[in-house]
Amino acid sequence: MVTQILAPLKLVSFEKIDTTIYATAEGACNATAAEIAALIKHKQRNGQIAVLGLATGSTPKKVYEALIRMHQHDGLSFKNVVTFNLDEYYSLQPDAIQSYRHFMEENLFNHIDIEKENCFVPHGGIPQEMVKMHCQDYEKRIEEFGGIDFQLLGIGRNGHIGFNEPGSHVSSATRLITLDHLTRFDAAYEFGSLTNVPRKAITMGVGTILKAKRIVLLAWGERKANIIQQAVEGPVTEFVPASYLQGHHNVEFILDESAANALTRKKTPWLTDDVLWNNGMIKKAVTHLALTLNKPILKLTNDDYNQNGLSDLLALYGQAYDINIEVFNQLQRTITGWPGGKPNADDTFRPERATPEKKRVLIFSPHPDDDIISMGGTFQRLVDQGHEVHVAYQTSGNIAVADDEAFRFIDFIKDYNQQFGISNAAADKMYAEALAFLKIKKNGEKDIEALRLVKGIIRRGEAKNTCRFVGISDCNAHFLNLPFYETGLVEKNPIGDADVNIITNLIEQIQPHQIYAAGDLADPHGTHKVCLDGIFEAMKRLKAESLKLKAESSELKAESWLSDCWLWLYKGAWAEWDIDLIEMAVPMSPDQVLKKRNGIFKHQSQKDGVVFQGTDSREFWQRAEDRNSATAALYNKLGLAEYAAMEAFVRWRY
Ligand code: F6R
Repeated sequence: MVTQILAPLKLVSFEKIDTTIYATAEGACNATAAEIAALIKHKQRNGQIAVLGLATGSTPKKVYEALIRMHQHDGLSFKNVVTFNLDEYYSLQPDAIQSYRHFMEENLFNHIDIEKENCFVPHGGIPQEMVKMHCQDYEKRIEEFGGIDFQLLGIGRNGHIGFNEPGSHVSSATRLITLDHLTRFDAAYEFGSLTNVPRKAITMGVGTILKAKRIVLLAWGERKANIIQQAVEGPVTEFVPASYLQGHHNVEFILDESAANALTRKKTPWLTDDVLWNNGMIKKAVTHLALTLNKPILKLTNDDYNQNGLSDLLALYGQAYDINIEVFNQLQRTITGWPGGKPNADDTFRPERATPEKKRVLIFSPHPDDDIISMGGTFQRLVDQGHEVHVAYQTSGNIAVADDEAFRFIDFIKDYNQQFGISNAAADKMYAEALAFLKIKKNGEKDIEALRLVKGIIRRGEAKNTCRFVGISDCNAHFLNLPFYETGLVEKNPIGDADVNIITNLIEQIQPHQIYAAGDLADPHGTHKVCLDGIFEAMKRLKAESLKLKAESSELKAESWLSDCWLWLYKGAWAEWDIDLIEMAVPMSPDQVLKKRNGIFKHQSQKDGVVFQGTDSREFWQRAEDRNSATAALYNKLGLAEYAAMEAFVRWRY
């Protein structure tokens, strides 16, 4: 008799909320918009109104864009729709640029055929003594319309839904609340600075939200991954208000890959399902096991594998030692002090090719300081090791310069001219205009063009200073000033042809052997992602062009440099690659760490309380040092040599 041995079927779920993961936020938004549209149409057919609960913030924007498209191109009508927004800052008048009423008008209401009197947003400008009554009316009105049919939610990094901050009660109703520090921090870029962010808000309660017939919570990006894991897999607790949603009968979390990253099915998929044990999965499992047990890889035992859900993997190899040594060697081979390749060395197991010995290198830096912050040590090594290094600064970075800093420079020009008896009518005019504008500038208001230019020049000067410090000449610093960035506002345009053409032309002109780019998708303003999209699109076009050339004329010249061009991705200031993904780790000595710090200091406008601090109160040099030493410590924890710091890269195969 033949006994068939089947691998154990696991399919365990740690998730207490129905969760759908999409490849991209865009796909997820289209699906969400389609569900909303179907609801509206269903209600229309039955002569009923559809009551929508809406959210603001960066998360739902693309849902609104999709709904607007459906209205404009597919005839979706909103005549039978009533909306209730979750929240509003207090006290902000409805017409303030940062008010959620204004947000909704700009991002949805003004572009669809909804009756304006059917759009309800809590009023942030009413006197305090009327707030209680206003909140009760808000609740009553929702009930009069028969309750919310579909509630759209985002999630704060502290787990808030609406503005129900940690500590909110499960049955709380619409009310005035005090905003959490983290929430205010996250909103700082919309208001120009933390001090301008209101301290209070009116929000629907958790109880109000839970009464909705259907709830969909959206989350994108790695910054949301941890809180999503807690809300979906953790206990129901007032410390994570989104976890209350576990008690709702019809709720779904819709995530992109990055926001889902900390869920058990993504982080340790071998615990929830049968997995394909390819190289990447083995590396992920072994590094995770070692770090969880706090043991170097070479000390992991058969029991460690068996007792931690990795018996399948152990069965594949037979002995823990064989798995350990394989993964240890792989990690060891990612470490190199020769990011441009080691001349005359056997490069079979090295991250980079040994030839050509001297490479042309093109570093793309989304903002004028990302090169030095994120890969300053590697930048320095590439220059010291004799490669031809170019840096392309993709955006001017002008919105991150404080007004008084810009004014200091304008004032300098005026005093300089006066001192040396230079008459410069244009400079005098600019001084007068800037002075007049700054006196009346409102919070978050777009700068006049002259001021934006000055801010851009300040950042360009700082980048040039860093380049000289590292040792490359001015002509190898390329300032692309990509047009998508030049809105003067936090909100940028999407990447366009003009941007891609600029990037393509530069790559073609330099014909690099190596390109370094920011592969960071967690930039609070999304600029890094747009910059990366531009590079990907440029590479795609160059590849298509070279294939066409090859087919037409068997002309191999263009093809040869492109097929020999490797693209390395570094992370921006906000995160680091997972250890199992790193393909090149460049170590730094304590002296090199110090040198990098001094290189970052050249960006004076970005020191000491910068305009867009983001969600991290450390200065950029501190973030860089913490991150680089943490990467080195991780390698060391896994049993590899102990370095002071390390910069990490992943190779993108295009
Ligand atoms: C917005 C709201 C908040 C946001 C949350 C996420 O009306 O109530 O709960 O949904 O703060 O904000 P973003 O989407 O900007 O990350």
